[in-house]
Amino acid sequence: MRALVWHGKEDIRCDTVTDPEIEHPRDAIIKVSSCAICGSDLHLFHNFIPAMMPGDIMGHEMMGEVIETGSEMNGSLKKGDRIVVPFTINCGECDQCKRGNFSVCERSNRNKQMSDKVFGHATAGLFGYTHLTGGYPGGQAEYLRVPFADATHIRVPDSMTDEQALFLGDILPTGWQAAVHCDIEPTDTVVIWGCGPVGQMAIRSAVLLGAKQVVAIDCVAERLSMAQAGGAITINFEEESVVERLNELTNGKGPEKCIDAVGLESHVSMSQPDTLMDRAKQMMMVENDRPHVIREMIYVCRPGGIISIPGVYSGLVDKIPLGMAMNKGLSFRMGQTHVKRWTDDLLRRIEEGQIDPSFVITHTVGLEEGPEMYKVFRDKQDSCIKVVLKP
Ligand SMILES: NC(=O)c1ccc[n+]([C@@H]2O[C@H](COP(=O)([O-])OP(=O)(O)OC[C@H]3O[C@@H](n4cnc5c(N)ncnc54)[C@H](O)[C@@H]3O)[C@@H](O)[C@H]2O)c1
Ligand SMILES: [Zn+2]
Ligand SMILES: [Zn+2]
Repeated sequence: MRALVWHGKEDIRCDTVTDPEIEHPRDAIIKVSSCAICGSDLHLFHNFIPAMMPGDIMGHEMMGEVIETGSEMNGSLKKGDRIVVPFTINCGECDQCKRGNFSVCERSNRNKQMSDKVFGHATAGLFGYTHLTGGYPGGQAEYLRVPFADATHIRVPDSMTDEQALFLGDILPTGWQAAVHCDIEPTDTVVIWGCGPVGQMAIRSAVLLGAKQVVAIDCVAERLSMAQAGGAITINFEEESVVERLNELTNGKGPEKCIDAVGLESHVSMSQPDTLMDRAKQMMMVENDRPHVIREMIYVCRPGGIISIPGVYSGLVDKIPLGMAMNKGLSFRMGQTHVKRWTDDLLRRIEEGQIDPSFVITHTVGLEEGPEMYKVFRDKQDSCIKVVLKP
């Protein structure tokens, strides 16, 4: 089959690889009908996440038709079913899965020992991601093996298009979880840093959850316009002071809730000098990530507020003002998304027309164009916001 394969830093190719096969009775194979490129894929593209290996198949946002199943589906899945695959592989039976903590499933990471050592405790297996999370082949491919498929799937009604359903596997529940983590009250100002696909979903989620005002920050014009269309007041951080504008919008009190939808690759910018320092430290390998947004959130957040971090960080960060956060009494909530915890509710909201996540798609292309689209998405060329690939 054809698949997008990681060969090293900024080197993804569309290769011919071996077709996946059923390896375990709880596996299923799907023929991928649609898949997408995620901001997390860019972190892998830039080799910021450790333990990628040449030959790894990329992709963790995908859906398709079940074409083969193992013998232990217990009636949950059969050939011909149309499913979205959550990017967090969950067994559905362990203590964490029972609590709904699917992204820290205790059984689905097949490299548990490595993950135990690095993280203290293993987290769930993820598709198309580092070997620390199992090194499972991803879904930017014609076919995908889904481990624990009886538990790791979201069944999609025929009435729903691929474009409406696809993002249930990642960015929609990710934006939603980030907003839910904010415990939004009707009096709250919720601020979202980053108007990429995850930020866009977080904006719509914060609006749906009833925030008083939603503010979105980025420096890319078309992303800010899309944020505004979703109901946000926007701030272009290259043109105005984030701190001053947020104080204006909150009568000097600061926003109650702050969401980091940027993650470890905050723009390196003269207007944010700490990012220059972080970039230099990254190059000297004394810091993994550029946590400008976290520093800024701690500074602007109203005392007693919540900092919600869906943005991905990979390792050690420097100069986080913990004393400021402690004295202001801030709460931190973060994590890879517990996808299945949210998807029954979100599927219903799509069916009822409360949200149609397809608004975010700007580019739809074939798999062969995938390697080029990584660059287009990364560089925000051609007003690119979200790429869907049709294998
Ligand atoms: N927690 C999860 O389960 C999960 C799931 C999906 C994605 N993510 C992460 O969410 C983050 C965003 O993903 P995406 O797909 O939207 O990626 P993206 O790269 O398209 O979006 C990031 C946006 O942040 C903006 N930005 C950069 N520096 C900024 C700054 N200082 N202030 C404000 N905005 C800034 C960029 O211009 C860009 O629009 C990534 O870190 C990704 O890995 C996490
Ligand atoms: Zn993702
Ligand atoms: Zn589990």
